[in-house]
Amino acid sequence: MPEANVVPIPANFADAHIKPDDYTAMYRRSIEDRDGFFAEMADQFLTWDKRWDSVSAHDFVTGEATWFDGGKLNVSVNCIDRHLPERADQVAIIWEGDDPSVSKSITYAELKAEVCKLANALRARGVGKGDRVCLYMPMIPEAAYAMLACARIGAIHSIVFGGFSPEALKDRIQAAECKALITCDEGYRGGKTIPLKHNADISLADCPSVSTCVVVRHTGCDAAMHDDRDVYYHEITAQQSEDCEPESMDSEDPLFILYTSGSTGQPKGVLHTTAGYLLQASITFKYVFDYRDGEVFWCTADVGWVTGHSYIVYGPLANGATTLMFEGVPTYPDAGRFWQVVDKYNVASFYTAPTAIRALQGKGDEFVKQSSRKSLRILGTVGEPINPEAWEWYFNVVGDGRCPIVDTWWQTETGAHMITSLPGAIAMKPGSATLPFFGVELALLEEDGSEIEGEGSGYLVVKSSWPSQIRTVYGDHQRMVDTYFSHYPGYYFTGDGAKRDADGYYWITGRVDDVINVSGHRMGTAEVERALALHESIAEAAVVGFPHDIKGQGIYCYVTPMDGVEGTDALKAELVNICAEEIGHIAKPDVIQWAPGLPKTRSGKIMRRILRKIAENELENLGDTSTLADPAVVEDLIENRAK
Ligand code: WTA
Repeated sequence: MPEANVVPIPANFADAHIKPDDYTAMYRRSIEDRDGFFAEMADQFLTWDKRWDSVSAHDFVTGEATWFDGGKLNVSVNCIDRHLPERADQVAIIWEGDDPSVSKSITYAELKAEVCKLANALRARGVGKGDRVCLYMPMIPEAAYAMLACARIGAIHSIVFGGFSPEALKDRIQAAECKALITCDEGYRGGKTIPLKHNADISLADCPSVSTCVVVRHTGCDAAMHDDRDVYYHEITAQQSEDCEPESMDSEDPLFILYTSGSTGQPKGVLHTTAGYLLQASITFKYVFDYRDGEVFWCTADVGWVTGHSYIVYGPLANGATTLMFEGVPTYPDAGRFWQVVDKYNVASFYTAPTAIRALQGKGDEFVKQSSRKSLRILGTVGEPINPEAWEWYFNVVGDGRCPIVDTWWQTETGAHMITSLPGAIAMKPGSATLPFFGVELALLEEDGSEIEGEGSGYLVVKSSWPSQIRTVYGDHQRMVDTYFSHYPGYYFTGDGAKRDADGYYWITGRVDDVINVSGHRMGTAEVERALALHESIAEAAVVGFPHDIKGQGIYCYVTPMDGVEGTDALKAELVNICAEEIGHIAKPDVIQWAPGLPKTRSGKIMRRILRKIAENELENLGDTSTLADPAVVEDLIENRAK
């Protein structure tokens, strides 16, 4: 492995929460005395109605894990009420609208009132502990109120990203049998409106479990309202009390479900529970971003993804922080928007995805240089490997060479950061997520399941439980066992490959399954294949990722039309549309190549390895093709490779 550039810890981080020796000592203790370490953390970071009976228990053959069994607490109390004695008038949420002239600040006292009013309104509509509530929202404060209102009454939220199509929304509502949907008339993004309520109406036509649809009036458009089911948010909350008795939840009661993509066509409902999730979101927020009282923290993710859950809402608010929520996009009104907002609110930590960094890098340095960014202390990245060129630009141009970058590796299933640098404790290497967080015990495995010692590369697995571990796939526990614990019994299988260098640093090399990462959005190639196959003119389709300069990975589709159907541009356009309709705009193919046949083994299995190589334009190195049923198919695909 070539020597990587080491970027030392900046001198002004000498008083960080975690210093180099602290990291070493705390990490060791978190592994050797896991229960002792996390018991102390749980006392320090959370407020309990009742302390736990036992700290942790897990079995990585069956996938079972419990944390803080017997304990009782409420997440909304931990994120709001307990801060009120000191922070009632401190801003909890700064909201910056899509339109730069529209913004709002919500104090902790106001947050308490808003959350309680909605919680009471939901209770009045018959929503209670254990009921599932779907959220299909733009990035507005009501999204955070709704999450916390669910947590207050023990309802389980399931957020569906506002960019998903009605079809995708319907599947997720049905799978979780949601009792209520909370949505919005329309959202704004980059000056355009997104018809959320209209989309929701299409979905709800096939969702008999939903008896209440709460609609936030945001753009004020004339949304259709169905009398007995639909209610306006402002109307149902108007007369409610600003106090609401919180439900005292067991540590292991579910907090939320979040659907994410896997290697089959059906998304998985990842379930997180109360205490362990909140604890790890909370600890990582404080230490990874070295959060200081009074600072403004900004995570640019959408609340529809796990990053938004853990680092816009739960992690920051559990720490009594001020969290910034942004409705818009990085390039509206112009490509300087992020840095204008950083200056406007004196943002101290800024956390975004490599795809956004690369896109802004492409727009030129002037957009950055127009701002001062002097408030920035820490920069973060998440979602996909960051290429060293983008890292250097982020560090030197955005951070003026003085802000450490925390490259955080984690997953929807892990709930919170797992591998990450710590700004005052771990020297950086551009492109490496560096070292494991407290309590995270990693290994790299060979194909045969043996552990790799020292330097090497292999499958990234986790050897023992961490507090915010996935507990189940909602409604299908066996699927959790099969996906994460059956490849290598005794280990949690991440689905990622990684290298470990001589300093023990981890370098994530990307997914080893059929999941791709498009602009930081996780997608199953099987989901796209399923959408394409719905078209009546299509016989078969196979989808793979390919390297894309801005998006990280793009979507490359090999499509075989039905006999007698000609592969035309018009048909390509229809296929792009069907992906947008079935999944959402994020799933639109970048490349469609007509394939008279797909490379298959004699037993009929598609050889995706070959399709990936062709999409990547690595034609010399196709590997073993001797098991192909018809080698001529590959010749054709290479010859007609889409340029
Ligand atoms: C990828 C997002 C490299 C990885 C929090 C993982 C990363 C998947 C990084 C999870 C990173 C996330 N470096 N790769 N810092 N962070 N990934 O569930 O492939 O949307 O398995 O969670 O994103 O995506 P998910």
